[in-house]
This record gives sequence, structure tokens and C-alpha cells, in this order.
Amino acid sequence: MKVSRTKNKKNELAGIRREYNPEPVRATPGLHPFQHSRYWFQQALRALAVMKREYGKGGLSEETSSPDPFELFQVWFADTLKARLLDPNAMTLSTLGLDGRPAVRTVLLKGFDEKGFVFFTNYESQKGRELARKSTAGLLFYWPTLARQVRVDGRAVRVSARESDEYFHSRPRGSQISAWVSRQSQRVPDREYLENKTVEFEKRFKGKAVARPPYWGGYRLVPDRFEFWSGKPNRLHDRLRYVLQGRRWLRERLSP
Ligand SMILES: Cc1cc2nc3c(=O)[nH]c(=O)nc-3n(C[C@H](O)[C@H](O)[C@H](O)COP(=O)(O)O)c2cc1C
Repeated sequence: MKVSRTKNKKNELAGIRREYNPEPVRATPGLHPFQHSRYWFQQALRALAVMKREYGKGGLSEETSSPDPFELFQVWFADTLKARLLDPNAMTLSTLGLDGRPAVRTVLLKGFDEKGFVFFTNYESQKGRELARKSTAGLLFYWPTLARQVRVDGRAVRVSARESDEYFHSRPRGSQISAWVSRQSQRVPDREYLENKTVEFEKRFKGKAVARPPYWGGYRLVPDRFEFWSGKPNRLHDRLRYVLQGRRWLRERLSP
């Protein structure tokens, strides 16, 4: 009898779900915590492997994609909105650590135009200090539902004070106060310290507009390289890289 591949997969998944408990158990008597967690993690990864999908039909071709990476990014970003993805503007920002290590964290894309990608932060934070020393930075978007990834490299430069003011004043008042409270990336004794400071700044700005702290503002990552990745069946994915050469974008296909 011929059993379909989908049915096989479903049965396997049901089997794993029966024995797989998604709640990690913290302490099991007689078992070293690591022995337990290693087993739990193996189960979790097995479940993920079975659930793994084949990548999309979409793909990325030289014929149908724009020769301008900004345009292609816009088309892909519009697709994230059509697909109603959660936080499609969340991106990984990578900088060069002062200690020479790569440093990564998530920030939100708040502006995009022909000049680059804008995000807002604290200029005195870890990333702020790193960018002050070396402006080279990278961004990564991963949209799993669409089986797409975009890498962007370039230099991060501060946006104008006017641009930062405009965005700052569009934020909810609570977020504006928090920008004063948080000396981002510095050590604080406890949460209470932050809550007390919040009360302090609420009093300070009572009945007044909250000014933008001088150490808070935006960066624009000005790209000189993009890479668009589109998941395809059998891991034979599409990758198109765009490299800025003078004023023109050179497009090349990379092996997956
Ligand atoms: C979904 C998400 C969005 C975030 N957006 C921002 C942001 O736009 N700006 C920001 O400064 N931090 C943002 N953060 C916090 C950063 O990831 C990070 O913790 C913080 O900026 C301090 O990083 P640093 O110590 O490397 O400077 C976000 C975190 C998450 C999980």
C-alpha cells in the first residue's frame, strides 16, 4: 500500500508530540540537570526537524527582480505587510565591539528611503559607543513565513537633529520619559531604581512637552551591499547580492 509522504510526516509528528513535553523540567531527582536538559533539547530539535517545511515556490530571479536593491527591498517589505507578519521591521543590527568581538542586537526599522535604513537609539549605549569608533555596521531581516532573509552592510551615520526631534515627538509620552530614565547599557542596581527615576522625570516634565535627550537620536545605515535570500526546495536557495560600484549596483548570484 502506498502511504503519502504527508501522511507519514503527520504520523511521525503525532508520535513525537505524544512523547515530547514542550515544558522543560527544571530538576529531576537523581539526574544531573544537564542530562535532563540534553534529552529534552534533543526531543525539541527532533520535533522541529519533523515540522520543518520545504521552502517556498517564490524564489528570486534576475528577470523578475529589480536591478535596484532599494526597490527590491521595498517590494519584499510590502509583502511582509500583505502577509501581516508580526514585527516585520525588527532587524538584527551588528556592530564591531570595542573589544573586537562582533556585537548584535535587535532594533526596529523606523525609516527607509533611497538613502538608507533608519533606527533610533541612545548614542551613549554600547552600540552608540561602538558606532562612534567604527561606523561599519550590518543589518539582518529574517522573515520565516516568507522564507526570506535580507542582509545589508554599510556605514551608520547619525541623522539630523531635526529628524530625531520629529520622531521623538511622535512617540508616546511614556517612551519619551523612558528615554530620559534609561542610560542605555549602563548597570543599574535594580528595577526599583528605574521606577523611581521614572517618577522623578514625570515630575520634572509635568505639564510640559518632553524634550529629546541630547544623547538620544537616530542613525541611518547607508548601504553599499545587500544580499537577498529566498528559500527554495531541496536547499537550492536563491541568493542575489548587490554591490555598489561607484554609483551603480552590480548584481551577482551566489551559491546557496
Ligand atoms: C523587538 C525588539 C526591538 C527593539 N528595538 C530597539 C530600538 O529600536 N532601539 C533600541 O535602542 N533598542 C531596541 N531594542 C533593544 C536592543 O535589542 C538592545 O537591548 C538595546 O538597544 C541595547 O543594546 P546595546 O547595549 O548593544 O547598545 C529592541 C529589542 C527588541 C527585542
